[in-house]
Amino acid sequence: MNHIIIIGFMGSGKTRVGKRLAKDLELPFIDVDRLITKQFNMSVKEIFERFGEPFYRALETLTIKNLIEDKERKVISLGAGLPAQEQNQQYLKQLGTIIYLKGSFAVLKKRLEGSNNPLIDGEDQEDKIKKLLKQRDPIYAKFADIQVVTGVKPFEDLIEEIKEKLEEYTKK
Ligand code: S3P
Repeated sequence: MNHIIIIGFMGSGKTRVGKRLAKDLELPFIDVDRLITKQFNMSVKEIFERFGEPFYRALETLTIKNLIEDKERKVISLGAGLPAQEQNQQYLKQLGTIIYLKGSFAVLKKRLEGSNNPLIDGEDQEDKIKKLLKQRDPIYAKFADIQVVTGVKPFEDLIEEIKEKLEEYTKK
């Protein structure tokens, strides 16, 4: 399916950008984390604690496989860890056009201060963010059809930039 897919690190603004893009393009918006947490009526943190991270990752894979078959075009934001999971990578390109919201370490660190996400919580939060970002940034870049920098220009300008790049990309 030719969905519009938003990827990026935690704190890169995937949900905010995705919602706005969906509104402007008159498409429905969904967030994969939200789809899963709604089904379970639990937060991501609770699912991780109760069933473990591999279980959550399996749900993510199942969700994107279903979305490939979904005939209604959508704007979809993916959890930050999803593209980094090898079992998902064969499906990413089949989902649609991928937009990477690239945030610098400084921007993301600031936005994620105090986050209780189990992957980056605790005293060594900065080190955890640095390490994960270093590991994931090349993966996001590799799968991206379009890349934009987040946290630098005003939100409205960022949305305009994405829409222009999408139009250009679609013409190709
Ligand atoms: C994760 C990011 C979260 C969520 C889960 C795992 C990750 O999504 O899917 O906690 O591995 O980085 P957001 O990117 O929406 O915060």
